[in-house]
Amino acid sequence: MTLLIEEERNEALFSWYQVEQRSFPWRGATDPYRILVSETMLQQTQASRVIPFYHRFVARLPTTASLAAADLQEVLGLWTGLGYNSRGLRLREAARKIEADGWPTTPEALIELPGVGPYTASAIASFAFGASVPAVDTNLRRVLSRWHGEPLNGSSLQTAAIASLGDPSSDWNQAMMDLGATTCVSKMPRCGVCPVKDWCSGPASYSPAPAQGRFEGSARQLRGAIVRSLVRGDAAFRDIVQQTGFPTVQVEMALADLMSEQLVNRDEGGVYRIAE
Ligand code: ADE
Repeated sequence: MTLLIEEERNEALFSWYQVEQRSFPWRGATDPYRILVSETMLQQTQASRVIPFYHRFVARLPTTASLAAADLQEVLGLWTGLGYNSRGLRLREAARKIEADGWPTTPEALIELPGVGPYTASAIASFAFGASVPAVDTNLRRVLSRWHGEPLNGSSLQTAAIASLGDPSSDWNQAMMDLGATTCVSKMPRCGVCPVKDWCSGPASYSPAPAQGRFEGSARQLRGAIVRSLVRGDAAFRDIVQQTGFPTVQVEMALADLMSEQLVNRDEGGVYRIAE
């Protein structure tokens, strides 16, 4: 009985996806490098905003070899505007590891790459290597919680995702992302037009996560402004304060963060620059 529900629901999901799927430059790609780049960019940034950054990045650095050899200044120059710049540094570290050891192909091995968490490891395994694995992110968690009628977490979420997974997993994962992004949205889900509403418990079982606090938002904004400034050229502390317009203590804290993340160095003369 349960099997029948999953099969019927997936059939309805796939039919809907064939007509309604969103078009993205990384969709249909099987080159693991392009998937690694796009999924890393998509970790904290909306898909529509990622598109121009993705095009520029893979045009300039089309292979793991080119990224492994690139200056951090160049990588961050291509990254600024996306936010969370340490993702760019981790991505270069991942490219260096792949150049040295070859591509891992399973989620368990992919997760050993710098900057690659459980979601990204599963997405690469599914999209590039055809593994039958669900790529569980916040969208998938929300959709599955509503299907099952309870907030799913940890192992219950993983179990539900594996039980519901359709074939091919790459289409199923992308269809679930699209359903979560366009229809089964967090605040005002559009259940009236949902293709799988007949097999769903409804939206009550899931409540959205609280929004990011104002302080964390502004600290992140400042770190981004500093990196943008240093990508244009090295700068002394007072120049950075002037360019960003933030209070001195906040700039100090942000620079300390960026140095501990190894994105920025300071030389003996007190000049800050993007790390090598
Ligand atoms: N968000 C995360 N991965 C995505 C993908 N492959 N397509 C669209 N949105 C995404």
